[in-house]
Amino acid sequence: MGKTSLVKHAIGSMRKMKLIYIDLYGIRTLSEFCARVMRGVAKATEEMSFLKKAVQFAFRLRPVIAIDPRDGSTTIAVDAKAAAEPDSLGAVMDALEKLAGDKESCVVFDEFQDILRLENSGTILAEMRSTIQFQADTPYFFMGSVRNDMMSIFDDMDSPFYKSALTFSVGEIDRAAFSKFIMQRFAKGNRRIAAPTIARILEFADGVSGDVQELCEALWETTEDGDEIVLDGIRPALDLIFSRERGGYEVLCERLTAGQSTVLRALADEAKAKPYSIEFVSKVSMPTSSIRRIISKLVDHRIIYPLGGYYRFSNPFFREWLLTQ
Ligand SMILES: Nc1ncnc2c1ncn2[C@@H]1O[C@H](COP(=O)(O)OP(=O)(O)OP(=O)(O)O)[C@@H](O)[C@H]1O
Ligand SMILES: [Mg+2]
Repeated sequence: MGKTSLVKHAIGSMRKMKLIYIDLYGIRTLSEFCARVMRGVAKATEEMSFLKKAVQFAFRLRPVIAIDPRDGSTTIAVDAKAAAEPDSLGAVMDALEKLAGDKESCVVFDEFQDILRLENSGTILAEMRSTIQFQADTPYFFMGSVRNDMMSIFDDMDSPFYKSALTFSVGEIDRAAFSKFIMQRFAKGNRRIAAPTIARILEFADGVSGDVQELCEALWETTEDGDEIVLDGIRPALDLIFSRERGGYEVLCERLTAGQSTVLRALADEAKAKPYSIEFVSKVSMPTSSIRRIISKLVDHRIIYPLGGYYRFSNPFFREWLLTQ
């Protein structure tokens, strides 16, 4: 929780260390992978000479440097067709290696597990592994938010990345420290927030930093300078979030089958519901085998995920909204 922030903050606080940050969220093709790597490279290199060099290394991808007229930042676009060629991966990994080797750099792949969505991901992982293992001086981070997928990359004996990295799980931010932080931030804006309100926020968000942040932002929007924020203040904040996100929730609901909808609503009904318990089975009146199939689909769609013996909603606001329906 708070992985991306943590790594960016840690590397940002190391003087001289250059961060090459590559976000693989939602990639579908090799060509997208290459484009994301080059985007990360471009972002890390504000100096044009450096960027030009990166472009040379990846010349096989027919890269084009573009300058964003809005803020003057530079980006690299790669030719989609050239980037889909089998040797394009070698080209971007080369560019990455040369660049990272030139300065003290740290390469971060975020949402790394999404590489598994690529066709022939096994070959791609193998090739990445074989280039990375010779770069003794460059630290690499592979971050991911889907635990099972990350484990299949790093802990499966058949995977090219098997035992190639140290595993570090980022747990919840200490609640006492988080409470203090929230209180101070509200105080800075001349608002007092009561301790039970903060406890409720952390409980609602299960301590997930992004969800805590979203709820606090809505609380901020729905209160005024000088206010004292009590428990009752949470409802209007949730309503604000619902009004922003309702469209997305509705689309999600429309895509659910009748069975999925029944199981999901039953899960929402009760905190830490156990979907294979006698009560749950009788509540949804479905055979356990169907529940199992449906749960696995809901997990596939990343609507819920398993957490310590029960299933948690990836988006607690969506769960809360379901309850109001
Ligand atoms: N140490 C922290 N203290 C306070 N707030 C934090 C902290 N770390 C993260 N946050 C808040 O949580 C938000 C989400 O954090 P971040 O994007 O780093 O999480 P993540 O684990 O990478 O999430 P995801 O799995 O969605 O990628 C940040 O935008 C920030 O507002
Ligand atoms: Mg992240």
